[in-house]
Amino acid sequence: MTRERTSGHDPDTGRRSKWKMRRAALEWEDYVAWHRGTEGFWLYKYKHQAVLLFGALLKAAGFYKYGYRNALNLRARHVKISPSTLPESFKGYRILHLSDLHLDSMEGLAERIARRIAPLPCDLCVITGDFRYVRHGAYRQILPPLGQIVEAVRAGDGIYAVLGNHDTQAMSDDIEKLGIRLLTNESVAIVRDGQRFNIIGVDDPHDYYTDAAAECLKKRERGFRLLLAHTPELYFQAASNGIHLYLCGHSHGGQICLPGGFPLMTFLNTGKRFYRGVWRFRDMTGHTSPGCGTAKIPIRFNCPPEVTVLTLG
Ligand SMILES: [Fe+2]
Repeated sequence: MTRERTSGHDPDTGRRSKWKMRRAALEWEDYVAWHRGTEGFWLYKYKHQAVLLFGALLKAAGFYKYGYRNALNLRARHVKISPSTLPESFKGYRILHLSDLHLDSMEGLAERIARRIAPLPCDLCVITGDFRYVRHGAYRQILPPLGQIVEAVRAGDGIYAVLGNHDTQAMSDDIEKLGIRLLTNESVAIVRDGQRFNIIGVDDPHDYYTDAAAECLKKRERGFRLLLAHTPELYFQAASNGIHLYLCGHSHGGQICLPGGFPLMTFLNTGKRFYRGVWRFRDMTGHTSPGCGTAKIPIRFNCPPEVTVLTLG
C-alpha cells in the first residue's frame, strides 16, 4: 500500500493573509453588534440572558453541581458509518472526531480529553471548531491545554481543523505551530494506492461564512470528499456539491436536554434536525459531534460530552 499526503496550499501565501483580513473584519462586525446591539443581536442577547438566568435558577435549586459533573463526564463513542463511494483503500479508516473543545470553559477539561483519546489509535483526527469559550478577546489561554490534547492524539495521517464561531483568526498561526493543520477554504488530499481522500475545510457557516467558502465547496476535487465545517447548516449546499461525508459540531447535541435527549436548544438556524449524531441527507452521510466542552453555562443534562471514533466501511 502506498500512502502520501498532498496539499496545494502553503499557509504562508497571500491567500491565507487575505483570509485573515476578511475574517478579522467579520469578527469586528460581530464584536460591534454584540457590544452596541443591532436588531438581530438583541434577540440573541435576550436568549443568552435567559440561559444565564436558567443557570442561576439551577444553582439556587441545587442542581447546578450535577450538571457541572455531567459536563466533565466525557465518553468515547465508536460508530461505524458507510458513506457512499468510499474508495477501497479507505475501508476501515478511523477518524477521531473532536469538536467544541471550549478549553477555557472548565478546569481540568483538557486533561480529561487527553486521557480519553490517548488509548484511541486512529488514522486521522479532525477538530470541527470552537477551541475557545469566549467569543471575543484573549485566546492564548487555550494553547497549553490544546497542546496537551495534540500530544495525546495518535493519528497516522495527522490532525486537521476548522475554526468555529468562538474562535478568532488571530489564533490560526499558534494553532498550526502546535501541529494542527487549519483548513481555511481549502483542501488537502490523502492518497492511498492512488485513491484520493480529500479533506475540505470551510469557514464557520453560522457567523463567519464567506463567498470564498462557497467557492471552495464547488471545486469538486477528484476522489472521495470529506467536508469539515463548524455547523451542519451547510448540509444542502454540501450535498448539492457532491460532498460524501460531512463532519461538524456547534450544537453540543443540545447540551441541556430533556430525559431521552430531546434538546431545549440547538444553537442552529437551519438543519436543526442534524443537531446530534450520524445523519444522512440525499447521498451524503453526516456526523454532528455533541462536543467535548460547553457554551454559555458549563453544565450538561441528558447529553454527555464525547469524543467519537468513526470507522468508515
Ligand atoms: Fe460554535
